Amino acid sequence: MTQKQLEELLSSMSLQEKIDQMLQLGSYMFSDSEAIVTGPMAEMGLSKENLDQCGSILGSMGAQMLIDFQKGVMERQPHHIPMLFMMDIIHGAKTIFPMPLALSASFDPEMVKEGAQIAAKEASVAGLHCVFSPMVDVSRDARWGRCMESPGEDPYLNGVMAKAHVEGFQGKSLSEPYSVAACVKHYAGYGGAEAGRDYNTVQLTEHTFRQEYLTPYREAVKAGSALVMSSFNTVNDIPASTNRWLMRDILRDEMGFEGVLISDFAAIQETIAHGYSEGAADAAKKALEAGLDIDMMTSCYSGNLAKLVEAGEVEEALIDESVMRILKLKNALGLFENPFKDADPEKEKDIILCQEHREAAREAAEETAVLLKNDGLLPLDLSKKIAFIGPYVNCAETQSSWAVAAEPKDTITLQMAAEKIFDPERTTYLEGCPRIGADVKLVGFEMFGNKISGKAGDRTEEEWKALENEAVNAAREADMVVMPLGEHYLQTGEATSRAFLDIPEVQMELFRKVAAVNDNIVVVLYNGRPLDLREISRKAKSILEVWFPGTEGGPAIVNLLTGKANPSGKLPMSFPYCVGQCPVYYGHYATGRPIVQGVEERFKSKYIDIPNEPLYPFGYGLSYTTFEISPVTLSKTEMTKEETITASVIVKNTGAVAGTEVVQLYLQDCFGSTVRPVKELKGFERVTLQPGEEKEISFTITEEMLQYYTADFVKKSEPGQFVVYIGDSSMVEEGKEFSLLRIVYKY
Ligand code: GLC
Repeated sequence: MTQKQLEELLSSMSLQEKIDQMLQLGSYMFSDSEAIVTGPMAEMGLSKENLDQCGSILGSMGAQMLIDFQKGVMERQPHHIPMLFMMDIIHGAKTIFPMPLALSASFDPEMVKEGAQIAAKEASVAGLHCVFSPMVDVSRDARWGRCMESPGEDPYLNGVMAKAHVEGFQGKSLSEPYSVAACVKHYAGYGGAEAGRDYNTVQLTEHTFRQEYLTPYREAVKAGSALVMSSFNTVNDIPASTNRWLMRDILRDEMGFEGVLISDFAAIQETIAHGYSEGAADAAKKALEAGLDIDMMTSCYSGNLAKLVEAGEVEEALIDESVMRILKLKNALGLFENPFKDADPEKEKDIILCQEHREAAREAAEETAVLLKNDGLLPLDLSKKIAFIGPYVNCAETQSSWAVAAEPKDTITLQMAAEKIFDPERTTYLEGCPRIGADVKLVGFEMFGNKISGKAGDRTEEEWKALENEAVNAAREADMVVMPLGEHYLQTGEATSRAFLDIPEVQMELFRKVAAVNDNIVVVLYNGRPLDLREISRKAKSILEVWFPGTEGGPAIVNLLTGKANPSGKLPMSFPYCVGQCPVYYGHYATGRPIVQGVEERFKSKYIDIPNEPLYPFGYGLSYTTFEISPVTLSKTEMTKEETITASVIVKNTGAVAGTEVVQLYLQDCFGSTVRPVKELKGFERVTLQPGEEKEISFTITEEMLQYYTADFVKKSEPGQFVVYIGDSSMVEEGKEFSLLRIVYKY
């Protein structure tokens, strides 16, 4: 439709019909193609008219089902306006890629973009128009379960991954086949929840908020994200979903976002619980005035806005503004010409989980794995007697709690893949223990259809004891033991904050018993958040971090264990020494009393019982080969705002096998009108080298890289001294200084 036609459509709609375009309900609230007002609908005070006019639904996919659903909508809808179909496609639709924190560990935006394209293709042929992804929240506290869903702790890396996802999902145009609308979330600051407790208060200075937490949103908006989702938390003590400064001043006016703003699940209504809105009508008024377009899963808008307009308490023009944005999104997707877009039951059968997609998911799982420790056990020697012992040995639930459309039956497990490679005469596979013991409480998960398998109650104590004994005996007889251990996938994700970062105790007990009889242990770690790995790192000779690796995790892990694939991942989030260190991240401020490595002093910013440094830092990851990175050379040591400096290193593969290094560029702004982080990631490059091969890697330092939100909140650079670091992790110590000159114009 043309803009004029959209305007004519808008002006022909009744007030309530316009308001119901701002209503998003769960697909489960409609039954068959007829919308029946029962149960939750009655509780929400919604009528059949609201349902017939509802603008979008979330939570279902399936080509034929959504085709039939849309046909019903087009018949019932007074102006035959097609409905938007949205869903949480976070790291794959049916072919599940590694979880987002893992994808970040690849430091490979091209691969991430391809993964998003595949997810978009599978989602669109299954009838979806919009995905609630990418989640880009900076997350620095491993107690927060949603760090698994984030790109990690670093604003720059999160921004790179946000852009890659948006471009992958949306392609060149939303109307193109296999494009879906991206919805960047959760705007904003959600990852800063105090104490890592989900939905908790966020207390950030405006500098940190603008400089670090908003950066990935700027990148997603620049990349053209069609939607933004508001978060549950407060920003400056006002809930995000009713926060005019956050949504109108910053998102719309400063960032120039013109797309659709959707609330998170019931977030408008929850401003009542926050103690900010005095009721649903007050919440609706505040959210509308703050610029929120779609009310996800409550009747605040549909049940109150018409009355507020009639009472003269809100302007109908604000509703028209929001509804026009929603109609434009539907138009951009081509839904007025083709309400079914790419939904195609035949293509669905051919495209979903096709071999090409599986291959891409396997390659992604290989690239996202991080080798944390390797005292010579990896790659495995296939001539040895190897026991695979642990609850993940043949577990298909390795796709994360956000793989909502996926089915474990499609997963190739570690054992399924290993049996194709390892000699059955010399290889055993033993579960040994449950994933979680009775001490792990996963309350309320079943009501959302999550079957909690892998728990102690699945077998009798005697059965578990027998399995444990069998495992320990096998360990005693083996030359080495591969132990696939880790969090239960339901222990990480939304509403899963933890006060301890341990691998479930029932698994640690098995680990200790195995370690008592065999000290050649390789731990393969499945987890969504950084964990406390102190004991594992003391007793295991090798640790391979595989996260939740997705549908093709098994084959990828076998390729990594056997050396067919060489690990190249780098940590996108620091692994704390222990939970007491949280939040811990490399880009911290120096403080007035920074500790000096190796110097014992009392009055310094430190702990008296643990080190300041994380156990494994941001940007860290080993390889089966070794690399040497030369000291940094600079093309010059002074630059004006108009100039650039080239910073270079020589990277050499000094080992015996080919490998990929992620060369990272960090800058330090030594003095500023506010204090500045001790380092900030400003660039990276993956470089693959053969044994003995070397290559020069160069980065161009621009004035823009030196800009930040200064004391007066103006984003600009300030003349002064900087240090360039280029290395293989955030712990790189040797840097080179340069200055940004102050130019004094003499007239
Ligand atoms: C959830 C999540 C959000 C998700 C939405 C829809 O509560 O916070 O990430 O997209 O609801 O499922």
